[in-house]
Amino acid sequence: MRFSQTIALITGAGSGIGKATAIRLANEGAKVILVGRTRSKLMETAYEINEAHRIPMAEVFPADVTDSEDVQELAEYMQTHFGDLHVLINNAGSSKHSRLLETSEEDWDYIQNVNLKSVFLVTKALAPIMIQGSQQDHAPQNRAIVNVASLSGHQAGAHIPHYSSAKAGVINLTKAFALELAPYGIRVNSVSPGFVESPLTEESLQNMNFIKAIDRNTALRRVGRAEEIANVITFAASEEASYMTGSDILVDGGWLIK
Ligand SMILES: NC(=O)c1ccc[n+]([C@@H]2O[C@H](COP(=O)([O-])OP(=O)(O)OC[C@H]3O[C@@H](n4cnc5c(N)ncnc54)[C@H](OP(=O)(O)O)[C@@H]3O)[C@@H](O)[C@H]2O)c1
Repeated sequence: MRFSQTIALITGAGSGIGKATAIRLANEGAKVILVGRTRSKLMETAYEINEAHRIPMAEVFPADVTDSEDVQELAEYMQTHFGDLHVLINNAGSSKHSRLLETSEEDWDYIQNVNLKSVFLVTKALAPIMIQGSQQDHAPQNRAIVNVASLSGHQAGAHIPHYSSAKAGVINLTKAFALELAPYGIRVNSVSPGFVESPLTEESLQNMNFIKAIDRNTALRRVGRAEEIANVITFAASEEASYMTGSDILVDGGWLIK
């Protein structure tokens, strides 16, 4: 129960890695606030979590993390209903295939906003609640932010130039926030998954050539599962990672070493 007495907020919690992380955090004692645009997906995650516990552990807050007004309302809700926040997982993200020379300005902005600007907006709005909480703690408590970056932030992926650059930005933005929030005892790290089965990769994983390429290029010779990324995200968010801040953890099944 690494997260008892913990309030945790997860963006993009309605599916994939965010959902697996929310389930893991709740199973280890956290009260979880699930954020995403689609209420029905959040409700499904919340139902799955709450069904497994006697006390309801999950609440939903539908919001678009690229919209500063939505994010501001989320911060006001957190302040009013909880008055504190210990763990923030900036996981929401999206991708789209296009060649650099064919990428529209609209697609460029969308991908930058959902993957990078969202981390800035949500952290800027919610970190003050974490800071205020840390100043009221009688004894130091575990407080952490984990941003979900990507293998593509380390090595630009094929036909995802906007996504690759946004995720590289997330890795560096993580370091900037880590420096700024360290004086308050808030650790900030990122986790960079390789290829993982989720709605984001569903279409690509129906392509046999893509699956063969993953087999060939991944040392562990398979795609990852959302739970395997959630394990590492929850480690970075936990007290066990108490001396780690400003770091990125690559969880790519050994793609970069091949
Ligand atoms: N799967 C992989 O292979 C892989 C690899 C590297 C990194 N990642 C990263 O891991 C994270 C999770 O992705 P996933 O694979 O779990 O895919 P996913 O199942 O598509 O999850 C992304 C979640 O983000 C939410 N979201 C998207 N845009 C949003 C917005 N504007 N505001 C609020 N929520 C939004 C989506 O819900 P709504 O559409 O309902 O809002 C969705 O639940 C992403 O940051 C992704 O880039 C994934």
